[in-house]
Amino acid sequence: MAFNTLALKRYSCRNFDRNKAVDRDIMLAILESARLAPSACNRQPWVFVVIDDLCDASLRSAVIDSYNREWVKSAPAYIIACGNHNEAWHRQADGKDHTDVDLSIAIEHICLAAADHGLGTCWVCNFDVEKITSALNIPSHIEPIAIIPIGYPAEDATIATKVRKNIDEIVKWGSF
Ligand SMILES: Cc1cc2nc3c(=O)[nH]c(=O)nc-3n(C[C@H](O)[C@H](O)[C@H](O)COP(=O)(O)O)c2cc1C
Repeated sequence: MAFNTLALKRYSCRNFDRNKAVDRDIMLAILESARLAPSACNRQPWVFVVIDDLCDASLRSAVIDSYNREWVKSAPAYIIACGNHNEAWHRQADGKDHTDVDLSIAIEHICLAAADHGLGTCWVCNFDVEKITSALNIPSHIEPIAIIPIGYPAEDATIATKVRKNIDEIVKWGSF
């Protein structure tokens, strides 16, 4: 698929077919795309916790409880993308922690790979970090960065048109 065709195909899906599970082989193929993502100094400071219907139902409930939106219940599975602050590269000059940068790349690889498999995803960052951390027993040096609900879009799912700035607003040739 031409890259921008795939980039256009990915959208924030907020209406899934709850009854159509994501096969674990497909989930692993998607997570392989995250494994291939670049990271600062190749530290790969990530762990992806997958919660699907083969996991304990209490975990699914905990995810739903951490992000109180009706639509999130329609997803058959969730990927909790976690960043390891101890593994991540910190820039020497100012100590900048690159966990968020690295995780963002890997997460978007997941979203694009999922779109390539006909699956819908949505980045979710507006969740209750404490609830997820405690439900999943996440250690203190690991941060849950995003929840990615994932599944097949519902038949009646609406796809919003892309609203983006114009190219001349975001590209500067030479200087700012
Ligand atoms: C870092 C990040 C955090 C986001 N957090 C949420 C969220 O908590 N809830 C939500 O519904 N959408 C969330 N989104 C989705 C954005 O609203 C969405 O990507 C944006 O409106 C563009 O729409 P599109 O993804 O359909 O192209 C997030 C996206 C990003 C990149």
